[in-house]
Amino acid sequence: MPDRRTFLSLVAAGAALQPLVARAQERFSPFVGSNPENVRRMVELAAPRSGETVIDLGSGDGRIVFAALQDRPGVRGLGVEISAELVQKSNAAAKAQGLGDRVQFMHQNAFDADLGKVDVIFMWLFPELMRLLRPKILAQARPGTRVVVATWDLGSWTADAVDDAGGMTPAIRKWIVPAHIEGGWEWEATVQDRTHRFSALFEQHMQKAEGVVRVGNRREIFQHMILRGEQINFSLRMTLPGLGFTNMIYAGSVRGDSIEGTIDAQIPRPGDDEAMDEVRVPWRARRTTTLGYFAPTGTNIS
Ligand SMILES: C[S@@+](CC[C@H](N)C(=O)[O-])C[C@H]1O[C@@H](n2cnc3c(N)ncnc32)[C@H](O)[C@@H]1O
Repeated sequence: MPDRRTFLSLVAAGAALQPLVARAQERFSPFVGSNPENVRRMVELAAPRSGETVIDLGSGDGRIVFAALQDRPGVRGLGVEISAELVQKSNAAAKAQGLGDRVQFMHQNAFDADLGKVDVIFMWLFPELMRLLRPKILAQARPGTRVVVATWDLGSWTADAVDDAGGMTPAIRKWIVPAHIEGGWEWEATVQDRTHRFSALFEQHMQKAEGVVRVGNRREIFQHMILRGEQINFSLRMTLPGLGFTNMIYAGSVRGDSIEGTIDAQIPRPGDDEAMDEVRVPWRARRTTTLGYFAPTGTNIS
């Protein structure tokens, strides 16, 4: 693709300028417009819906934002761009297309963009610049925000969806910003009139999550944990005091320092070794810094 070749030669030039760029403290990606087919594929993968807001970090002449709004009347668009001239041209083009009330291009550094109210983030910048923006996105964008990038990846953050035709056609990747779950969580669950206290520790690298839990003096590992935006799902199989070996399926939504959802539990039927009863109970977890998981265990572990 011609624009890819141009961009790759710019990357090579950028590498030669690396020491100067590094001294300048701020990374910069020059204006090269995305080719229309890549723009179409980026918008298709992002799939903006009515009521949503998209932003292009380094919006150039605004082409990605305009494409995202085309035939989608309920979608709003934002662009941030370091070149005042391109911002002025983009805003003039928006006005000329009758989109002045739905689009705003701002003369701003991408590192200063407000990402807290957008649903889709588009980027087509030098890979290093996008990698440097990654922590800002993870820290400031809301869980569930889609990030769509052409050609390059975002380092060790694995894409959630890829449109890859192979050959010389650049891949388009989509990431979903995960909720922050790393750390200690506690909850009580009452199953058949018995209340159990769970002290859990979630570990997280981007959307990859795992964890362990303690109930009484028993500890267990969560299985099949999936974190997608604010949605969290996992299973837990462990012996609960008074109930026996219990299979639990957890599903919830992470909202800041709390998780709300359900636990579907299969518990042994009293007096019948073969049969299991199924119950659904509410799951309400809260974040904690005084985690019972680390409390002394002692030697009486029978
Ligand atoms: C490769 S062009 C992409 C333009 C447009 N997104 C597209 O795909 O057609 C990169 C754009 O980012 C702008 N840019 C570079 N560094 C920036 C920064 N730190 N903040 C905001 N804009 C930046 C450049 O001026 C340029 O217009």
